[in-house]
Amino acid sequence: MVNLVSFDRKTLLAKVVRQFRISRNGIHGPNHWARVRRHALTVGQATGADLLVVELFAFLHDSQRRNEDQDPLHGLRGAEYAALLNGSSFALDATQMKTLDYAIRHHSDGGRSEDVTIQTCWDADRLDLGRCGIKPAAKYLSAAAAGEIESAYRWSVESADAVDPALWEFL
Ligand SMILES: [Fe+2]
Ligand SMILES: [Fe+2]
Repeated sequence: MVNLVSFDRKTLLAKVVRQFRISRNGIHGPNHWARVRRHALTVGQATGADLLVVELFAFLHDSQRRNEDQDPLHGLRGAEYAALLNGSSFALDATQMKTLDYAIRHHSDGGRSEDVTIQTCWDADRLDLGRCGIKPAAKYLSAAAAGEIESAYRWSVESADAVDPALWEFL
């Protein structure tokens, strides 16, 4: 069982969803965040990532999208939004906030990171590419995440459009 840092996930999720500008059932909406969250926690346990940072990444990284396809600045806006919420919706120290900022800001640049927490965030997002019909490539993933490719792909395809209450077990 993962030992999660406590913060009010339900209130944070409600707040993020309220301000979300695009479809709640779309490929960048809450179903995606939920799968990214689950991957982030699974991979994060194996990599030793900061589980609070990777969980917040899941909730926030696509929260500022303005469309479903070309939106190259959504990472930058997402990082700014995370900074705005820090201190009220959750409490990260300066180092954690810097890590979350970088992970969100650059999550769609296609890179890799030596920082396990940042790489775990990107792993988790990439493991859900199956919802777009893309099988994640191991070369962009940590070894721990690469081991999850097949099961993650099946999960993404099967639950791409479905609102699965089990994804939000904390609600
Ligand atoms: Fe994104
Ligand atoms: Fe994403």
